[in-house]
Amino acid sequence: MNNQSAHDLFIPLDTHLTNKNQPKYEVLYEHIKEAICHGRLKRNDKLPSSRYLSQQMGISRNSVIAAFDLLIEEGFAESRQGAGTFVAGIIELKPLLGEVKQNHLSNSVVRISEVAQRIQTIDDQSSTKPGGLQETTQSLFLPAQPAISDFPLKEWHAATARSLRDQNAYSEQPAMGAQLLRQQISEHLLITRGVKCCVDQVMITTGSQQALAIALNLLVTQNETVMLEETGYPGIDGVLTSIGAKQIALPTDEYGLCFDADNAIAQQAHTLILTPSRSFPLGQTLSLKRRLAILDWAYETQSWVIEDDYDSEFVFNGHSISALQGLDTGSRVIYTGTFSRTMFPGIRLGYMVLPEALIDLFKKYKRFVDGGLSGPQQIAMGLFMKEGGYNRHLRRMRKLYKIRKASLDHLMQQSFPDFTLVPSSGGMHSVYLLNASYCDQRICEKANANGLDIRALSAYQRDILHRPVRSGLILGYAGTPVEKMPAGVNKLQKIIKSLSKNI
Ligand SMILES: Cc1ncc(COP(=O)(O)O)c(C=O)c1O
Repeated sequence: MNNQSAHDLFIPLDTHLTNKNQPKYEVLYEHIKEAICHGRLKRNDKLPSSRYLSQQMGISRNSVIAAFDLLIEEGFAESRQGAGTFVAGIIELKPLLGEVKQNHLSNSVVRISEVAQRIQTIDDQSSTKPGGLQETTQSLFLPAQPAISDFPLKEWHAATARSLRDQNAYSEQPAMGAQLLRQQISEHLLITRGVKCCVDQVMITTGSQQALAIALNLLVTQNETVMLEETGYPGIDGVLTSIGAKQIALPTDEYGLCFDADNAIAQQAHTLILTPSRSFPLGQTLSLKRRLAILDWAYETQSWVIEDDYDSEFVFNGHSISALQGLDTGSRVIYTGTFSRTMFPGIRLGYMVLPEALIDLFKKYKRFVDGGLSGPQQIAMGLFMKEGGYNRHLRRMRKLYKIRKASLDHLMQQSFPDFTLVPSSGGMHSVYLLNASYCDQRICEKANANGLDIRALSAYQRDILHRPVRSGLILGYAGTPVEKMPAGVNKLQKIIKSLSKNI
């Protein structure tokens, strides 16, 4: 570039100012750096003198000199004795910024691992949360959404404040998690879920998703066959796809997963993932006979059973059925649970209970995954449990959710007599099966575009041989106040009517 055009790049500083508080030397520095990165200033181009720039841009010479110093320090420019300041001559400065912005992650441009390539094949919308990956602001009937407005904020704030006064919160936390929280979880799980473990077996995670991902990454190898339920949480499928495992979905009936240890699939697979207490999303409970058959198979074949106990705290009539882990005498069950549903989704805390033989391996790996979780958050949760706040909250939510479920089921039955409610004694959502004349995904699409937040059952169905896809609607009741339900159901009725007319 000749010197005249280099000069042309500099116009009064006011034109570049987007933030009036930004120091002037910084604005000039960024302006020159940007011109270099985009190729408007080339190597060996001479920068205008500080006197010229100060006059031209209406800033002090000191500001210009400070900008030049910074450019020289970072290697973008160099000062040549007696000749002035030049764009650095040593490095070939390609027009960097433009290229980076345009580079989409495609195999031809960016080198990525096999895992990453497999991850790219996953559809984002269905890969993790029951709601897909989209952030949701509305929550009318959103499944898995707790009653946030009924959360005991005062008690939680008090526990959080106390955690911040605890010196331990400020140190790096152990890879397995904060001792206080692990202790509380092991006691709580024994009483409420019949999980038998000592504190050493408990690992704190950022939720069930992380617990499942860690377990699957450490226990399943590429091309290995893994058994799952025919409908289920897509976050698991995402992890298995990234590992390159083969997924085989097994049918379920009113007694839960149809498991037969003599079946060829069970003989070839060495991992089973399931939601035995309340299958997701249909809510069946695995029968004792099948529980024992699964544990026998796991012990005999030295296989792993991963128990995803995602929302069993909410059982409305009688006692919740104990966890499979509590029956496991052969140390084959890895148990996972979460506070996302019992506390609030943003808490991102969960846990896993490991057979003793796996503790060291999992602990070692966890250090590489996240380096330990937040001290204040874990200690606050531990204190909240220790002081009884958690159990009180659970008791209140059980009562509230029971009322909300009854209300929603009643309204739905009145408005949609041809839908079939899937019986369930707890949880946070109801499932209504549809007959063949309805398309659940089309209904959800339209409903969610109109202020509802419901899910289609067919979206959770895994490929299974000779099994027709079941159509149904999943409506969360836990986070939806009773008084808002009639308007929501009414809206759904209108939407379904309008769609039926178009068929
Ligand atoms: C059945 C099931 N398991 C696990 C998870 C993951 O839970 P978390 O939010 O604790 O990661 C979910 C999330 O919705 C789920 O539905």
